[in-house]
Amino acid sequence: GEQMLTDTFSRKHTYLRLSLTERCNLRCTYCMPADGAPLTPGERLLSADELQRLASLFVGAGVDKIRLTGGEPTVRKDLLEICRSLSALPGLRTLAMTSNGVALKRQLPQLQEAGLNALNISLDTLRPDRFEALTRRAGHGKVLASIEEALRLGFAPLKVNVVVMRGVNDDEIIDFSELTRDAPLNVRFIEYMPFDGNVWSDSKMVTYKEMLAALRDRYPQGLVRCADPAGEVAKNFTVPGHKGSVSFITSMTHAFCGDCNRLRVLADGSLKVCLFGANEVSLRDAMREGATDDDLRLVISAAVDRKRAAHAGMFELAATQNRPMITIGG
Ligand code: GTP
Ligand code: 5AD
Ligand code: SF4
Repeated sequence: GEQMLTDTFSRKHTYLRLSLTERCNLRCTYCMPADGAPLTPGERLLSADELQRLASLFVGAGVDKIRLTGGEPTVRKDLLEICRSLSALPGLRTLAMTSNGVALKRQLPQLQEAGLNALNISLDTLRPDRFEALTRRAGHGKVLASIEEALRLGFAPLKVNVVVMRGVNDDEIIDFSELTRDAPLNVRFIEYMPFDGNVWSDSKMVTYKEMLAALRDRYPQGLVRCADPAGEVAKNFTVPGHKGSVSFITSMTHAFCGDCNRLRVLADGSLKVCLFGANEVSLRDAMREGATDDDLRLVISAAVDRKRAAHAGMFELAATQNRPMITIGG
């Protein structure tokens, strides 16, 4: 039961991030190493049945929210079937997805019918030319169209993720917050984090403090701090008079590890108990070696018990061995 997903710091893990693929139709510089990341061969990725088996174990042990990630989840051919079967798990309340929005618009009505009920879309710039430089691909207009479609279909709050990088898009903070004036969007400014191959440097990172100062400058009426729902990684604010809201994800300068409720299963079946570090165990290997559900529960429980109190500090993090972000999914 619940014990399986409670760690030695009494943190209960009720939120599972499932990465469905290591592939992506974009090449964002902060996520994918310039030379690409080595792809796990297809037969070593979890099948839809294996995903469902694991998800069912986690939900049985108290997980009530699953977020599908990637790579880019919409490039997975059986995404719709996966959503249908996951959303039927008794006890699962939220089936969420994080997508780059490029190939999303057309799939979205069916995904919603299949049980997808929460959506975050990544968009780091409102300028088409900049989008191409940042993602090394075309598709800006398609992302905007997906955001409109998601609003039309009633995904609320629709979260838009903006990774803020100095000298790249930090001059667009106000343009992004202005989107919340008339649209019920939650724009989330994210501190740039280091991952293998993403050439992070602290000088490119724009801190929460700086971003907040930029907004306070623009909105003399002030920003109103809102409650942060339990288990969320964002600090939430509204600009008085705006329909939407703005938030900050402060992994680098104000870590939120003490309330962490997240576990990750990567596309290759690795259970990762923290976004950072190399503490992983292969649930795929256990399953393919004939593990019973009880065996799997023991493997999962032991991994959760090895979870540390917090990730390393900012400068140690950059040196910590991890993976490229594209294979983790955020
Ligand atoms: P919600 O489920 O809506 O709270 O979404 P989310 O913010 O957890 O997920 P999303 O995929 O939209 O990720 C937004 C940002 O939060 C990305 O930069 C993620 O890497 C980061 N993030 C997600 N989970 C964690 C975490 O456990 N620790 C840290 N430090 N960052 C995280
Ligand atoms: N730092 C912060 N956020 C990142 N993401 C990808 N790479 C990074 C990084 N280096 C975000 C994406 C997506 C989410 C899953 O993680 O923009 O919205
Ligand atoms: Fe693809 Fe998302 Fe990584 Fe960008 S951040 S390369 S959209 S997986």
